Amino acid sequence: MTVKDFIPTAYKNLIEKGSYIWSSPSNIALVKYWGKKEHQIPENPSISFTLDSCKTTTTLRFSKKENNNEFLFDVFLDGEKKDDFKPKIETFFKRIEAYLPFLKGYYFKIETSNTFPHSSGIASSASGMSALASCLMSLERSLSGVEVTDEYFTQKASFLSRLGSGSACRSLEGDLVVWGKHDEIDGSSDLFGVKYPFEVHQNFKNYNDTILLVDKGEKQVSSTVGHNLMHNHPFAQERFKQAHSNLSSLIDVFKTGDLKSFIKIVESEALTLHAMMMTSMPYFILMKPNTLEIINKIWVFRQKTSSNVCFTLDAGANVHVLYPEAETEMVNEFINNELVAYCQNGHYICDRIGFGAKQL
Ligand code: DP6
Repeated sequence: MTVKDFIPTAYKNLIEKGSYIWSSPSNIALVKYWGKKEHQIPENPSISFTLDSCKTTTTLRFSKKENNNEFLFDVFLDGEKKDDFKPKIETFFKRIEAYLPFLKGYYFKIETSNTFPHSSGIASSASGMSALASCLMSLERSLSGVEVTDEYFTQKASFLSRLGSGSACRSLEGDLVVWGKHDEIDGSSDLFGVKYPFEVHQNFKNYNDTILLVDKGEKQVSSTVGHNLMHNHPFAQERFKQAHSNLSSLIDVFKTGDLKSFIKIVESEALTLHAMMMTSMPYFILMKPNTLEIINKIWVFRQKTSSNVCFTLDAGANVHVLYPEAETEMVNEFINNELVAYCQNGHYICDRIGFGAKQL
Protein backbone atom coordinates (compact mmCIF):
# COMPACT_ATOMS: atom_id res chain seq x y z
CA MET A 1 0.00 0.00 0.00
CA THR A 2 1.15 3.52 -0.76
CA VAL A 3 -0.24 6.91 0.21
CA LYS A 4 -2.09 7.05 -3.15
CA ASP A 5 -4.12 3.97 -2.26
CA PHE A 6 -5.88 6.03 0.40
CA ILE A 7 -7.12 8.71 -1.99
CA PRO A 8 -10.70 7.75 -2.81
CA THR A 9 -12.34 7.75 -6.22
CA ALA A 10 -15.48 9.87 -6.63
CA TYR A 11 -18.21 9.05 -4.10
CA LYS A 12 -21.45 7.66 -5.53
CA ASN A 13 -23.87 8.38 -2.69
CA LEU A 14 -25.23 11.63 -1.32
CA ILE A 15 -25.88 11.77 2.40
CA GLU A 16 -27.54 14.78 4.04
CA LYS A 17 -27.01 13.98 7.69
CA GLY A 18 -26.53 11.24 10.20
CA SER A 19 -24.28 10.02 13.00
CA TYR A 20 -21.83 7.27 13.91
CA ILE A 21 -20.48 6.12 17.25
CA TRP A 22 -17.17 4.37 17.80
CA SER A 23 -15.17 3.50 20.85
CA SER A 24 -11.43 3.02 20.60
CA PRO A 25 -8.84 2.11 23.23
CA SER A 26 -5.49 3.46 24.24
CA ASN A 27 -2.37 1.32 23.73
CA ILE A 28 0.91 0.82 25.52
CA ALA A 29 4.12 0.51 23.51
CA LEU A 30 6.60 -2.26 24.30
CA VAL A 31 9.10 -1.00 21.71
CA LYS A 32 8.71 2.76 21.68
CA TYR A 33 8.05 5.24 18.91
CA TRP A 34 10.20 8.27 19.70
CA GLY A 35 11.36 10.34 16.75
CA LYS A 36 9.53 11.07 13.53
CA LYS A 37 10.06 12.45 10.04
CA GLU A 38 7.78 14.66 7.99
CA HIS A 39 4.15 13.54 7.57
CA GLN A 40 4.12 11.52 10.77
CA ILE A 41 6.52 8.87 9.46
CA PRO A 42 8.20 7.14 12.40
CA GLU A 43 11.99 6.93 12.64
CA ASN A 44 11.72 3.35 13.89
CA PRO A 45 9.17 0.55 14.12
CA SER A 46 7.22 0.13 17.36
CA ILE A 47 4.91 -2.51 18.82
CA SER A 48 2.19 -2.18 21.44
CA PHE A 49 -0.38 -4.02 23.47
CA THR A 50 -3.82 -2.64 22.71
CA LEU A 51 -5.60 -1.80 25.96
CA ASP A 52 -9.15 -2.70 26.88
CA SER A 53 -10.80 -0.43 29.43
CA CYS A 54 -8.92 2.83 28.84
CA LYS A 55 -10.87 4.09 25.86
CA THR A 56 -12.61 7.01 24.19
CA THR A 57 -16.16 6.89 22.86
CA THR A 58 -16.90 9.38 20.12
CA THR A 59 -20.21 10.29 18.49
CA LEU A 60 -19.81 12.06 15.18
CA ARG A 61 -22.95 13.90 14.01
CA PHE A 62 -22.78 15.40 10.56
CA SER A 63 -24.99 17.54 8.34
CA LYS A 64 -24.33 18.82 4.84
CA LYS A 65 -23.47 22.52 4.70
CA GLU A 66 -23.87 25.22 2.06
CA ASN A 67 -20.29 25.88 1.02
CA ASN A 68 -17.13 23.81 0.81
CA ASN A 69 -14.59 26.42 1.72
CA GLU A 70 -13.73 25.71 5.35
CA PHE A 71 -13.81 23.10 8.09
CA LEU A 72 -16.77 23.62 10.41
CA PHE A 73 -17.06 21.63 13.63
CA ASP A 74 -17.58 21.78 17.37
CA VAL A 75 -16.05 19.51 19.99
CA PHE A 76 -17.57 18.43 23.28
CA LEU A 77 -15.95 16.47 26.10
CA ASP A 78 -18.46 14.91 28.48
CA GLY A 79 -21.11 17.29 27.16
CA GLU A 80 -19.00 20.39 27.66
CA LYS A 81 -17.91 22.48 24.67
CA LYS A 82 -14.14 22.38 24.31
CA ASP A 83 -12.85 25.09 22.02
CA ASP A 84 -9.29 24.42 23.19
CA PHE A 85 -9.45 21.01 21.43
CA LYS A 86 -10.24 22.64 18.10
CA PRO A 87 -6.74 23.57 16.87
CA LYS A 88 -5.56 19.94 17.17
CA ILE A 89 -8.59 18.70 15.23
CA GLU A 90 -8.24 21.46 12.65
CA THR A 91 -4.62 20.34 12.09
CA PHE A 92 -5.82 16.75 11.84
CA PHE A 93 -8.49 17.69 9.27
CA LYS A 94 -5.92 19.61 7.19
CA ARG A 95 -3.60 16.61 7.18
CA ILE A 96 -6.32 14.16 6.12
CA GLU A 97 -8.33 16.33 3.75
CA ALA A 98 -6.69 14.85 0.64
CA TYR A 99 -7.80 11.38 1.77
CA LEU A 100 -11.32 12.38 2.87
CA PRO A 101 -12.39 15.04 0.36
CA PHE A 102 -15.85 15.33 1.94
CA LEU A 103 -14.56 17.01 5.10
CA LYS A 104 -15.32 20.60 4.08
CA GLY A 105 -18.79 19.62 2.84
CA TYR A 106 -20.20 18.92 6.32
CA TYR A 107 -20.69 20.51 9.69
CA PHE A 108 -19.51 18.04 12.37
CA LYS A 109 -20.49 17.83 15.98
CA ILE A 110 -17.87 15.71 17.74
CA GLU A 111 -18.97 14.44 21.16
CA THR A 112 -16.38 12.53 23.05
CA SER A 113 -15.87 10.97 26.47
CA ASN A 114 -13.06 8.95 28.03
CA THR A 115 -13.32 6.10 30.52
CA PHE A 116 -10.26 7.51 32.28
CA PRO A 117 -10.27 10.94 33.92
CA HIS A 118 -9.05 13.71 31.62
CA SER A 119 -6.63 14.83 34.31
CA SER A 120 -5.11 11.40 34.87
CA GLY A 121 -1.95 12.08 32.91
CA ILE A 122 -3.07 9.37 30.47
CA ALA A 123 -2.90 10.75 26.97
CA SER A 124 -6.22 10.56 25.18
CA SER A 125 -4.73 11.26 21.76
CA ALA A 126 -4.35 7.59 20.76
CA SER A 127 -7.89 6.59 21.73
CA GLY A 128 -9.41 9.93 20.71
CA MET A 129 -7.85 10.18 17.26
CA SER A 130 -8.55 6.54 16.42
CA ALA A 131 -12.19 6.83 17.52
CA LEU A 132 -12.67 9.97 15.41
CA ALA A 133 -10.88 8.42 12.41
CA SER A 134 -13.16 5.37 12.68
CA CYS A 135 -16.29 7.56 12.67
CA LEU A 136 -15.00 9.39 9.59
CA MET A 137 -14.32 6.07 7.86
CA SER A 138 -17.92 4.99 8.55
CA LEU A 139 -19.09 8.11 6.75
CA GLU A 140 -16.72 7.46 3.86
CA ARG A 141 -17.96 3.89 3.63
CA SER A 142 -21.57 5.12 3.30
CA LEU A 143 -20.65 7.78 0.76
CA SER A 144 -18.50 5.56 -1.41
CA GLY A 145 -21.26 3.44 -2.93
CA VAL A 146 -18.82 0.61 -3.61
CA GLU A 147 -17.81 -2.18 -1.32
CA VAL A 148 -15.22 -1.14 1.26
CA THR A 149 -13.65 -4.26 2.77
CA ASP A 150 -13.12 -4.46 6.52
CA GLU A 151 -9.42 -4.81 5.87
CA TYR A 152 -9.25 -1.56 3.88
CA PHE A 153 -11.50 0.17 6.41
CA THR A 154 -9.20 -0.70 9.33
CA GLN A 155 -6.05 0.08 7.38
CA LYS A 156 -7.29 3.48 6.28
CA ALA A 157 -8.66 4.24 9.76
CA SER A 158 -5.18 3.48 11.09
CA PHE A 159 -3.55 5.55 8.32
CA LEU A 160 -5.77 8.53 9.19
CA SER A 161 -5.25 8.07 12.94
CA ARG A 162 -1.49 8.22 12.42
CA LEU A 163 -1.88 11.65 10.86
CA GLY A 164 -3.70 12.76 14.03
CA SER A 165 -1.22 11.24 16.48
CA GLY A 166 1.41 8.65 15.58
CA SER A 167 0.70 6.12 18.31
CA ALA A 168 -3.05 6.30 17.57
CA CYS A 169 -2.52 4.13 14.48
CA ARG A 170 -1.81 1.20 16.84
CA SER A 171 -5.26 1.37 18.51
CA LEU A 172 -7.57 0.07 15.76
CA GLU A 173 -6.91 -3.62 16.31
CA GLY A 174 -5.50 -5.90 18.96
CA ASP A 175 -4.01 -7.50 20.77
CA LEU A 176 -0.52 -6.69 19.49
CA VAL A 177 0.04 -4.10 16.77
CA VAL A 178 3.20 -3.18 14.86
CA TRP A 179 3.69 0.21 13.25
CA GLY A 180 6.72 1.01 11.13
CA LYS A 181 8.57 -0.97 8.49
CA HIS A 182 10.52 -3.89 9.92
CA ASP A 183 12.44 -6.34 7.70
CA GLU A 184 11.24 -9.46 9.47
CA ILE A 185 7.57 -8.49 9.78
CA ASP A 186 5.64 -9.03 6.58
CA GLY A 187 3.16 -6.30 5.77
CA SER A 188 4.59 -3.86 8.34
CA SER A 189 4.38 -0.27 7.15
CA ASP A 190 5.35 3.26 8.14
CA LEU A 191 1.88 4.37 7.03
CA PHE A 192 -0.37 2.36 9.35
CA GLY A 193 -0.41 -0.21 12.11
CA VAL A 194 -0.85 -3.94 11.37
CA LYS A 195 -1.82 -6.79 13.61
CA TYR A 196 1.28 -8.66 14.74
CA PRO A 197 1.29 -11.53 12.25
CA PHE A 198 3.23 -14.29 14.04
CA GLU A 199 2.64 -16.86 16.74
CA VAL A 200 2.09 -15.55 20.27
CA HIS A 201 2.58 -17.88 23.25
CA GLN A 202 -0.20 -18.42 25.78
CA ASN A 203 1.91 -16.55 28.38
CA PHE A 204 1.10 -13.29 26.61
CA LYS A 205 -2.65 -13.81 26.29
CA ASN A 206 -4.79 -11.58 28.53
CA TYR A 207 -1.69 -9.77 29.81
CA ASN A 208 -2.50 -7.23 32.53
CA ASP A 209 -1.56 -3.57 32.65
CA THR A 210 -2.21 -1.74 35.90
CA ILE A 211 -1.54 1.94 35.39
CA LEU A 212 -0.22 3.66 38.49
CA LEU A 213 -1.12 7.34 38.40
CA VAL A 214 1.95 8.96 39.88
CA ASP A 215 1.40 12.43 38.49
CA LYS A 216 -1.89 13.52 37.03
CA GLY A 217 -0.76 16.96 35.93
CA GLU A 218 -0.47 18.24 32.37
CA LYS A 219 2.64 16.99 30.60
CA GLN A 220 5.53 19.46 30.91
CA VAL A 221 6.78 18.58 27.45
CA SER A 222 4.43 17.48 24.67
CA SER A 223 5.22 14.34 22.68
CA THR A 224 5.51 16.42 19.54
CA VAL A 225 8.25 18.56 21.08
CA GLY A 226 9.95 15.41 22.40
CA HIS A 227 9.87 13.70 19.00
CA ASN A 228 11.41 16.77 17.39
CA LEU A 229 14.29 16.73 19.85
CA MET A 230 15.37 13.43 18.28
CA HIS A 231 16.49 15.42 15.22
CA ASN A 232 20.25 15.90 15.65
CA HIS A 233 20.15 13.98 18.92
CA PRO A 234 23.66 12.55 19.48
CA PHE A 235 22.37 9.02 20.14
CA ALA A 236 19.43 8.99 17.72
CA GLN A 237 20.81 6.67 15.05
CA GLU A 238 21.90 4.04 17.58
CA ARG A 239 18.53 4.28 19.28
CA PHE A 240 16.64 3.72 16.02
CA LYS A 241 18.82 0.66 15.26
CA GLN A 242 18.18 -0.65 18.77
CA ALA A 243 14.40 -0.46 18.26
CA HIS A 244 14.73 -2.64 15.12
CA SER A 245 16.79 -5.21 16.98
CA ASN A 246 14.53 -5.21 20.05
CA LEU A 247 11.56 -5.89 17.81
CA SER A 248 13.47 -8.72 16.13
CA SER A 249 14.21 -10.24 19.54
CA LEU A 250 10.57 -9.95 20.56
CA ILE A 251 9.51 -12.19 17.66
CA ASP A 252 11.25 -15.14 19.31
CA VAL A 253 10.11 -14.07 22.79
CA PHE A 254 6.47 -14.02 21.74
CA LYS A 255 6.80 -17.41 20.10
CA THR A 256 8.52 -19.19 22.98
CA GLY A 257 6.79 -17.36 25.84
CA ASP A 258 10.16 -16.33 27.30
CA LEU A 259 8.99 -13.93 30.02
CA LYS A 260 12.47 -13.17 31.38
CA SER A 261 13.66 -11.88 28.01
CA PHE A 262 10.38 -10.01 27.54
CA ILE A 263 11.00 -8.13 30.81
CA LYS A 264 14.55 -7.17 29.80
CA ILE A 265 13.47 -5.76 26.45
CA VAL A 266 10.39 -3.93 27.75
CA GLU A 267 12.06 -2.31 30.76
CA SER A 268 15.12 -1.36 28.73
CA GLU A 269 12.86 0.26 26.10
CA ALA A 270 11.10 2.33 28.78
CA LEU A 271 14.35 3.52 30.31
CA THR A 272 15.88 4.21 26.90
CA LEU A 273 12.87 6.40 26.00
CA HIS A 274 13.49 8.48 29.11
CA ALA A 275 17.25 8.42 28.56
CA MET A 276 16.65 10.00 25.14
CA MET A 277 14.70 12.78 26.85
CA MET A 278 17.42 13.30 29.43
CA THR A 279 20.13 13.48 26.76
CA SER A 280 18.35 15.77 24.28
CA MET A 281 19.02 19.51 24.06
CA PRO A 282 17.13 20.98 25.81
CA TYR A 283 17.07 18.03 28.22
CA PHE A 284 14.15 17.18 30.44
CA ILE A 285 13.00 14.63 33.02
CA LEU A 286 9.44 13.36 33.07
CA MET A 287 9.88 10.76 35.80
CA LYS A 288 9.05 11.78 39.37
CA PRO A 289 10.64 10.47 42.57
CA ASN A 290 7.69 8.08 42.98
CA THR A 291 8.25 6.69 39.48
CA LEU A 292 11.70 5.55 40.65
CA GLU A 293 10.36 4.28 43.98
CA ILE A 294 7.91 2.06 42.11
CA ILE A 295 10.55 0.78 39.68
CA ASN A 296 12.81 -0.16 42.59
CA LYS A 297 9.97 -1.90 44.44
CA ILE A 298 9.20 -3.94 41.32
CA TRP A 299 12.84 -5.00 41.03
CA VAL A 300 13.01 -6.02 44.70
CA PHE A 301 9.73 -7.93 44.42
CA ARG A 302 11.01 -9.83 41.39
CA GLN A 303 14.18 -10.72 43.26
CA LYS A 304 12.25 -12.03 46.26
CA THR A 305 9.58 -13.94 44.34
CA SER A 306 9.23 -15.88 41.12
CA SER A 307 7.07 -13.10 39.66
CA ASN A 308 7.38 -11.88 36.08
CA VAL A 309 5.91 -8.47 36.82
CA CYS A 310 7.65 -5.62 34.99
CA PHE A 311 7.12 -1.95 34.15
CA THR A 312 6.99 0.32 31.19
CA LEU A 313 6.63 4.09 30.90
CA ASP A 314 5.06 6.51 28.46
CA ALA A 315 6.16 10.10 28.01
CA GLY A 316 5.20 10.89 31.60
CA ALA A 317 5.61 9.90 35.24
CA ASN A 318 2.90 7.22 35.40
CA VAL A 319 4.01 3.59 35.57
CA HIS A 320 2.40 0.79 33.57
CA VAL A 321 2.78 -2.42 35.57
CA LEU A 322 2.65 -5.39 33.18
CA TYR A 323 2.11 -9.01 34.29
CA PRO A 324 0.82 -12.33 32.96
CA GLU A 325 -2.75 -13.41 33.65
CA ALA A 326 -1.51 -16.32 35.78
CA GLU A 327 0.02 -13.86 38.28
CA THR A 328 -3.00 -11.59 38.65
CA GLU A 329 -3.69 -12.37 42.28
CA MET A 330 -0.12 -12.24 43.47
CA VAL A 331 0.70 -8.99 41.67
CA ASN A 332 -2.54 -7.28 42.68
CA GLU A 333 -1.68 -7.98 46.28
CA PHE A 334 1.80 -6.57 45.75
CA ILE A 335 0.39 -3.44 44.07
CA ASN A 336 -2.07 -2.86 46.90
CA ASN A 337 0.42 -3.48 49.67
CA GLU A 338 3.47 -1.77 48.25
CA LEU A 339 2.82 0.44 45.23
CA VAL A 340 -0.47 2.25 45.75
CA ALA A 341 1.20 4.44 48.36
CA TYR A 342 3.23 6.08 45.57
CA CYS A 343 0.17 6.96 43.47
CA GLN A 344 -1.35 10.43 43.59
CA ASN A 345 -4.36 10.11 45.89
CA GLY A 346 -3.89 6.33 45.73
CA HIS A 347 -5.31 6.28 42.19
CA TYR A 348 -4.59 3.57 39.66
CA ILE A 349 -6.39 1.94 36.72
CA CYS A 350 -6.65 -1.81 36.16
CA ASP A 351 -6.46 -2.63 32.49
CA ARG A 352 -5.50 -5.55 30.27
CA ILE A 353 -4.90 -6.38 26.64
CA GLY A 354 -7.82 -5.60 24.34
CA PHE A 355 -8.87 -5.90 20.76
CA GLY A 356 -9.23 -2.45 19.26
CA ALA A 357 -11.88 -0.07 17.97
CA LYS A 358 -15.58 -1.02 17.89
CA GLN A 359 -18.61 0.53 16.27
CA LEU A 360 -21.46 1.01 18.75
C1 DP6 B 1 6.21 7.82 24.31
O1 DP6 B 1 1.87 9.37 19.35
O2 DP6 B 1 1.75 10.97 21.29
O3 DP6 B 1 3.98 7.14 23.91
O4 DP6 B 1 2.75 11.50 16.82
O5 DP6 B 1 3.41 13.58 18.02
O6 DP6 B 1 1.11 12.60 18.38
P1 DP6 B 1 2.59 12.34 18.07
O7 DP6 B 1 3.17 11.54 19.30
P2 DP6 B 1 2.55 10.38 20.19
O8 DP6 B 1 3.89 9.75 20.81
C2 DP6 B 1 3.83 8.69 21.68
C3 DP6 B 1 5.16 8.35 22.18
C4 DP6 B 1 5.22 7.32 23.28
C5 DP6 B 1 5.73 5.98 22.75
C6 DP6 B 1 4.78 5.15 21.96
O9 DP6 B 1 3.56 5.17 22.21
O10 DP6 B 1 5.27 4.40 21.09
